[in-house]
Amino acid sequence: MQLNRRQMLKLMGATTAISIGQPALFARAATSTEIELEAAPLMHKLHHAPEAQTSTLWGYNGHVAGPTLRFKQGEKITIHFTNNLPEPTSIHWHGLRIANKMDGVSGLTQDPVQPGETFTYEFVAPDAGTYWYHAHHKSWEQVARGLYGGLIIDPADGDILPEAQDHLVILDDWRLDETGRFDEASLGAPMDWSHDGRLGNWLTVNGESLPRFSLCEGMPHLLRLINASNSRIMEIDPDRFGAKIIGFDGQALPNAPTELGYKPLLLGPAQRVDLLVEPKESFALEELSREPFPFCFFDIAEACESPAPFVPPKPNALPLPAKTDRFQLDVRMTGGAMGQLGDIFYQGERMERGDFQRTKQFWAFNNVANLAETPLFSVNKGETVELNVINETAFMHAMHVHGHHFLVEDRDGGGVEFNPLWRDTFLIGTQQSTRIAFVADNPGKWLFHCHMLEHAASGMNAWFEVRA
Ligand code: C2O
Ligand code: CU
Repeated sequence: MQLNRRQMLKLMGATTAISIGQPALFARAATSTEIELEAAPLMHKLHHAPEAQTSTLWGYNGHVAGPTLRFKQGEKITIHFTNNLPEPTSIHWHGLRIANKMDGVSGLTQDPVQPGETFTYEFVAPDAGTYWYHAHHKSWEQVARGLYGGLIIDPADGDILPEAQDHLVILDDWRLDETGRFDEASLGAPMDWSHDGRLGNWLTVNGESLPRFSLCEGMPHLLRLINASNSRIMEIDPDRFGAKIIGFDGQALPNAPTELGYKPLLLGPAQRVDLLVEPKESFALEELSREPFPFCFFDIAEACESPAPFVPPKPNALPLPAKTDRFQLDVRMTGGAMGQLGDIFYQGERMERGDFQRTKQFWAFNNVANLAETPLFSVNKGETVELNVINETAFMHAMHVHGHHFLVEDRDGGGVEFNPLWRDTFLIGTQQSTRIAFVADNPGKWLFHCHMLEHAASGMNAWFEVRA
């Protein structure tokens, strides 16, 4: 049975939040450049109602969300990873422009890490900003079970705000059963894969149900929002609490803080937004796609130590795409329920009627479902790539490019809301076209996929090659 949120709230008999205090995230933050990370099963209660059952989830270092990893731009980072899950896994550092062999994509950039085995990730983070890490092996299952955490890169030349004014807010959407437990039975449901992915009925922040944060009245606070859900697009209205925009996907806007100027703010799976708020009163952060549903609450603290002023972050030095002399490619997105299933090739064969259900491949880029032998495109290092992505499906998608940030240049000929708009994941509406461009400066084999993880698993997953 699929409950909607209101039914779930009724069932649990509690719509008021329990104060669990400031999530212990920063207490768990990494302080060294060399850390240990372990993936393992754990027990955790996702719903705060007393009668709700505890779920068996998977997490890093015993927590959902995992420990917040916090490093400095330009620093050499070493992560000793141990897999204590019952199945293989790997870790992807989402949004970091790092060396290909450290990108953590099992089957493309590394072999999966087997149960009981270890792998050492070593990289230098070139850009400051808000990123995240998550499993990249059967991501549709492993991320759904809780294998993710926040990853903050502080600017080399000093923090934007001290930790007491800097808050990580990782949003997740869980599907709970009638007892409030993680709904394991519906993992991998073909209905989700061919429609809008695995959507849940319960929201958490940093793995907690309706947590409360405390803020100082009138003083600047940075809220780093990350959408860690498998497939839900979150709708947020920063105007409701007077917040301004600092940046998207880790990249600061040049004139931050700035007004959003449109609404609502859509935060697709894997996308981030940094908000600056100087609160006058307590407020709730709410998801607004249906009836408002609170993620968490921000209370005004009784006493505050003299807070630091906000220092606008400098935009990262990203390579600017060339205006001419580009490698250009149209990418047609097709398939899915209510879409055209005709002419989709999977593993070199044209799919016939029964093949879709059998292979669970429902989506395609330029008629190819999932990773083919040959790349979607191949370019030389330093070339500017222009992708004109055309969504011919009946669903929205959240397209992610690995190893590079790109400029969103245009949507349907109407331009874009910010200029420049750098992202690593862009949302594309149904029947919409979006032009992105980036300098392919990072050699290796990289993924280009929908971050609605069921869509990626069922066809919206391609790779491209940057030749050294
Ligand atoms: Cu967030 Cu392919 O990754
Ligand atoms: Cu999608």
